[in-house]
Amino acid sequence: MSKRALAALLLHNEVNLFLRGIIPTLGFKTSIVPYARQSRAAGKTDFAYSEALRNTAIVWNETTLDRWLAGPATFVPGTKMAFVGLREPRDRDDLIAFLRARTSGK
Ligand code: HEM
Repeated sequence: MSKRALAALLLHNEVNLFLRGIIPTLGFKTSIVPYARQSRAAGKTDFAYSEALRNTAIVWNETTLDRWLAGPATFVPGTKMAFVGLREPRDRDDLIAFLRARTSGK
């Protein structure tokens, strides 16, 4: 992010910046930085995950992500992800295809 874009971002008075939502509103040119996603165990980053997610043995891949997105609270009871899920398999396929395209490193 350029210094000008950062200065514009910091003009927001939000306490909890929703970066992915606010950045496009700044009006600067954006581009995609390609990267190759590494596979990773669920609930194992520095984010304060729920105990439920930290204690699962799930490894994220397209199969586990599909089950998670179908109903997070069904797949991992006690999760803090307040998202009802995507009931339609087609919607999940589309979302996973989008994520695959964005994280394949191309
Ligand atoms: C539809 C697109 C979404 C995708 C692909 C997605 C994906 C994920 C994944 C894979 C995790 C687990 C991360 C890990 O184990 O390291 C996660 C966790 C979480 N997500 Fe989402 N998510 C989505 C939508 C949302 C929405 C709409 C919200 C908020 C309303 C949300 C809030 C959270 C929270 C709070 C956690 C942590 C859950 C916990 O600690 O139990 N997500 N998400």
